[in-house]
Amino acid sequence: MSGDLSPIDKAKFVAAKRAAELVEDGMRVGLGTGSTAAWLVRCLGEMVREDGLKITGVPTSARTAELAREVGIELITLDEARWLDLTIDGADEFDSELNLIKGGGGALLQEKIVATASDQMVVIADKAKEVETLGAFPLPIEVIPFGWQTSQALVEETLISMDVMGRSSTLRMNGASPYVTDEGNHILDLHLNRIGNPRQLALVLNQIPGVVENGLFIDICDTVVIGYGDGKVEV
Ligand code: 5RP
Repeated sequence: MSGDLSPIDKAKFVAAKRAAELVEDGMRVGLGTGSTAAWLVRCLGEMVREDGLKITGVPTSARTAELAREVGIELITLDEARWLDLTIDGADEFDSELNLIKGGGGALLQEKIVATASDQMVVIADKAKEVETLGAFPLPIEVIPFGWQTSQALVEETLISMDVMGRSSTLRMNGASPYVTDEGNHILDLHLNRIGNPRQLALVLNQIPGVVENGLFIDICDTVVIGYGDGKVEV
């Protein structure tokens, strides 16, 4: 499955493979979204098909659901599962306190709901995702389409009042049209450079009318499995 991989894909693959070893028979597992999480889904699929691993998965996006079905993982909805043993997902950035920026792949809303409904969240990432301070990666926030420009203006005003360094935001596009999430919403990417107080920012952003969720994951992640291009893994 891993064939001839570039160093970055190798790093993602080895992190995913190590995290897959945490999955045990009978577990209900949240399946993340993105290129690293896709490796996890493939690894789990192989364990289901070849080792008889018995799990049920709750996908965090339509993309992940499609891949999971393809590789033979049985899926249920979060409402059927109610609570999960473990969620394994990628991240765009993580810091030493295991705060995350997520949503680069546009699935932050389902990802946050699923991770929060899990006993444990394990993040799988290549070393490049580790940062001292979150914020170099644009922070995604999901907004409802109705009045999104008003929400954007309110977000920018809020950032000014919080004295955050970068304040501009861009509507995420998919070609010539706004990007649409699985929930039918849009994404604003906030260019902040540096997020001094991620906990406060996460709370404040979610108070703004029209904002459905933000990509800051605070006190949600329990463990990060870091993969390296030479195949090394660190937990
Ligand atoms: C999707 C996410 C992804 O986990 C994040 O963007 C990392 O993606 P990748 O593994 O492709 O680098 O949050 O919404």
